[in-house]
Amino acid sequence: MAGSETVIQEYPDIAIRLNVNGRDYVVTVKPYERLIDVLRYKLGFTSVKEGCGRGECGACVVLMDGKLVPSCLVLAIRANGSKIVTLEGLAPEGKLHAIQKAFLDTLGVQCGFCFPGVIIATKYLLDRVSDPSDEDIKNYLEGQLCRCGSYLRFIKAVKLAVKYIKEGKIYFDLKEVKG
Ligand code: FES
Ligand code: FES
Repeated sequence: MAGSETVIQEYPDIAIRLNVNGRDYVVTVKPYERLIDVLRYKLGFTSVKEGCGRGECGACVVLMDGKLVPSCLVLAIRANGSKIVTLEGLAPEGKLHAIQKAFLDTLGVQCGFCFPGVIIATKYLLDRVSDPSDEDIKNYLEGQLCRCGSYLRFIKAVKLAVKYIKEGKIYFDLKEVKG
């Protein structure tokens, strides 16, 4: 019937600027888009995993201006102008960061789904506490849910990462990684 249409208007695109892993991006987003979706689906940083989607599991954590944040709870427009670090940004191309190597060496993961978030949370921890106690590790990783129950191995892995870093071994060639 003429004159009775309902006009649905889409929200406008908004251009935001992000620096992800040292590289600058300009991305257009909707006002309701989440940072996790921009990182994963627009920029291709697929290490950022979605578990719960509501800030409870830690699978999606990234460093945003040095703070550990669940990217599923951050609107992309709120991240405008921020510096973001994901797992992909921890080591140069072809290398692994000491934390990644330590988790592999201790077989700290099983299915690996939680792995990127746990490693980013460990980086956040070691940036603040260079030689953490078991309690420090538990406190800093308490938001990281591991469905496979690898928690005790996480403690071993963090301690091995500390050892590598103390020895000045920050990066490892991929060929040094066990089979
Ligand atoms: S997916 Fe973000 S905290 Fe679980
Ligand atoms: S290793 Fe499977 S969720 Fe942590």
